[in-house]
Amino acid sequence: MTSGERLVKSRQRVSDHGEVFTPRWLVDDMLDLVKGETERIDSRFLEPACGSGNFLVPVLERKLAAVQARHGRSDFEKRHYALYALMCIYGIELLADNAQECRENLAGTFARYLKLGADDQVWLRAAQAVLAANIVQGDALKLTDARGEHIVFPEWGYLGRGKYQRRDFRFDSLARKAAFDGLFAAFEEHDVFAPVKSYPAMTVQEIAA
Ligand SMILES: C[S@@+](CC[C@H](N)C(=O)[O-])C[C@H]1O[C@@H](n2cnc3c(N)ncnc32)[C@H](O)[C@@H]1O
Repeated sequence: MTSGERLVKSRQRVSDHGEVFTPRWLVDDMLDLVKGETERIDSRFLEPACGSGNFLVPVLERKLAAVQARHGRSDFEKRHYALYALMCIYGIELLADNAQECRENLAGTFARYLKLGADDQVWLRAAQAVLAANIVQGDALKLTDARGEHIVFPEWGYLGRGKYQRRDFRFDSLARKAAFDGLFAAFEEHDVFAPVKSYPAMTVQEIAA
C-alpha cells in the first residue's frame, strides 16, 4: 500500500457493503494480466462494483498513454481520442458518494491529461455528460439503477472528423448477449439485442450540451 492510500472508509461500510478498496500495486498487477486490452483505446471495460474507480482510473491512464503514443502530435485527434477512451469505461456502484467520486476521479484524470483550462469548458462538460451515463449508481446484482429501473448503458463509437455515435442498450440484454455469444453464437443477434435508443451523430459540443 502506498502512503496516503485509504482502503477503508469506515468499519460500518465494510460490514454493510463489503467496501474495501484495492491497493494500487494489486490493481496494476491485475491489469497487467490483460495488458493488451488496457492499452487499446477502444476496448470496453465495465467494473460492476467500481467504488471510487481504483481500477477504472488506471485503465483510463493506460488508454490515455495509448492516445498519446498514437495521436499525440495532433491536438484535434488527441482530444477526440481521449474522449473516446473515456467513453469506453463503464462502472456500476451501489453507493451514491462512491459513484460520484468515481466520476470525479475519471474526469480529473481526463482533464489533467488534456491540460484543460478555463477555455475548455466544453470538453469538461462533454466528459461529465459521458460519465453521468457510463458510471451508474445501481445494483449490479439486480441490474437496476438507483430508481429501481433497468440499467441502461450507452455504446459510444468514434466516427472520425469530430463525430461520435451513441446507441443505448439495457444492461440485462448485454449480459444475455454475452451468454448467447458463448453458447448460441448462431442465434440471430437482433432477436435478443436491440438498442433502446439510437442517436444521430454528435459533436463534442452536442454531447456537452
Ligand atoms: C470491495 S469494494 C471494491 C471497490 C473497487 N472495485 C476497488 O477495487 O477499489 C466493493 C464495492 O462494491 C460496492 N457494492 C456492493 N454491493 C454492490 C452491488 N450489489 N452493486 C454494485 N456495487 C456494489 C460497494 O459499495 C463497494 O464500493
